[in-house]
This record gives sequence, C-alpha cells and structure tokens, in this order.
Amino acid sequence: MDPAENISGEELFSVSTDSLHFIQKAPCDLFRCNRSGQYVLFVAQHGILGRPAIDRLQFYGTENLYVRVEDAAFYSQMLRSRLDDLVQNPNVEASVKAKAVQAVCRDVMRRAFDDPRGPFIKQACDVIVPTVDLIVNNEEATKYLVRLTAFDHATYVHSTNVGIFGVALARLFFGQDSSHDMHNLGTGFFLHDLGKCRIPIEILNKPGRLTPEERLVVNCHVEEGYNILGENGIITDEARTITLQHHERDNGTGYPHGKLGSDIHPYARICRIADIYEALTAERPYHQRRTTFEALKIMKEQEVADVDQGIFAHFIRLFMG
Ligand SMILES: [Fe+2]
Repeated sequence: MDPAENISGEELFSVSTDSLHFIQKAPCDLFRCNRSGQYVLFVAQHGILGRPAIDRLQFYGTENLYVRVEDAAFYSQMLRSRLDDLVQNPNVEASVKAKAVQAVCRDVMRRAFDDPRGPFIKQACDVIVPTVDLIVNNEEATKYLVRLTAFDHATYVHSTNVGIFGVALARLFFGQDSSHDMHNLGTGFFLHDLGKCRIPIEILNKPGRLTPEERLVVNCHVEEGYNILGENGIITDEARTITLQHHERDNGTGYPHGKLGSDIHPYARICRIADIYEALTAERPYHQRRTTFEALKIMKEQEVADVDQGIFAHFIRLFMG
C-alpha cells in the first residue's frame, strides 16, 4: 500500500480522517505521513477507502491524510457530490448525515482559516451547499447538528457552529419565503469570521482581558473578512455584508460603522444572534461554557436588549422539542 513516493509536504494539504468516514472510494490519491516524516501513497485514486481503513488509521493515531494542492478543486467537487448523495439518500439516518456534514465542514473551515487562498475558500463554499440543504430540508438532522456543535474555542469551530445556527435560524425566520438564497446566505454565516485569520494569534487567544488597543486590532476582522472575500470574488455582496456587519448593534454602539437597527442587514442581525449564543455556550480561555438554558436567559435579559426580539423568538424555537 506504501510505494515510495517522492513528494514534498509543500505540494500537499491535509484533510482530517474524520471527514473521510463516509467515502467508500478515494476521490484522488491520498497520502499519509510516515514516522520518518516522508509522504507516502496511502490509497490511489478510486482505491477502496471505507470505514475499516479510516478506523485503522485512527487507531494508530493518524489524524490527517494529505492531498496534492493541484487536486484541490477536484477533491472538493468529489466531496461535494458525495455529500450531496448522502444528504439526499432517504435510507441514511439523520444522525449519520449530521455527523458526516459536521466533520467535513469543520475540516474545510479549518483549511480556509489556516490558508485563505482561493481554492480553499472555494472548497468551503462547495461544502456549505449540501450542509445548508440538510439544515433547510431535514429538521431531525438539524437537531443533531445543533447538538454536535463542539466545545472548542478554535475560530474555525466557532465559525462552523455559527454557520449551523445561522442557517437554522434563517430557515425558521424566513419560513417559506423563497426570495432568500439560502446557499448564499449560509456561505456568509459560515465565513463571517474569516478575517480573524489576519489577526495575530496571540491576541486572538489571549486568556485575559484585551487592552483597548488589542480590542481595536480584533475589531478589524470584520473589514479584513470583507476584503478577503472580495479579493476572491467567490461570494456575493450580500454574503459579504454579513461579514462586515455582524458586530453592528441596533442601538448604534457596534462596529465598524455604528449603524442603527434598520440600516443593518437582516442577515447580519441573524448572524449576530447566532454569534452571541455560540460565544456563550463555547468553552473559552476567559469563561466557562453556559448551558443552553443559561445562555438563552442571559441573551433575553442582557445581550439581546438591542437585537430584534422577533428574530430572537425564532431562535429560541431551535432548542424546543
Ligand atoms: Fe466576529
């Protein structure tokens, strides 16, 4: 299985083995890193992958496989079409769909945040489509997804979770109104914090309170994200607006422009509610995670005083039943 393959790590990108559980045949050549740090072929394109092979890898502590950078677009097309098949298969349980979608989403989001080059942002956009389809069409799977949101403070995990909450809330809020392009909207939710990839990590992960200067640096992430998404031209202006406006507050005390309620795009207001909830319920260096009940109570009594109560009422429905 391991013919010597002289390939350098710079020509490869990593994919988490978690994200490959549901794939039966390798979409392209997949490599692994051996104990000497060399990249060797693990399975060739179209070779059998499947759960036993992935379980065996994970048993030996292998968390990542590697794909050639030149295969990035092809890999993401294959991933998207196989995820589409899984999401639309009526014989697959909702919990299995939710698990696969969440694992793939986390993996492509990690990559987009680590290396926000066009092909990797495009990969995230591709995978967001079946994820949005699952949330819009499958209530049971959405409940699993909401439960699967992990207690981890990495930015890409936060963004994946906000994406899931944002799409689920938009679906409830807009109901049958088909004038909202949920794929486009979902892309904005999932990538709302992409600008944080340009903020120094020591500030992002600082355990204590930020100084006023550091706070200003962090606040730049909204404009940075807006610019990155503009540079790549992959995403629509509406989705970019979510990135730019998700820290605006209805009472005008938000940033970057201190906009007042009706000037803030409704998509950005939905994103803000999902963002606040996720921040309260995630484990962070500076506070312990709250339960769903505690978080909703805090939001009702304090945080959401300046947010549209109509949107918030729909958000609460996500956790009922
Ligand atoms: Fe943000």
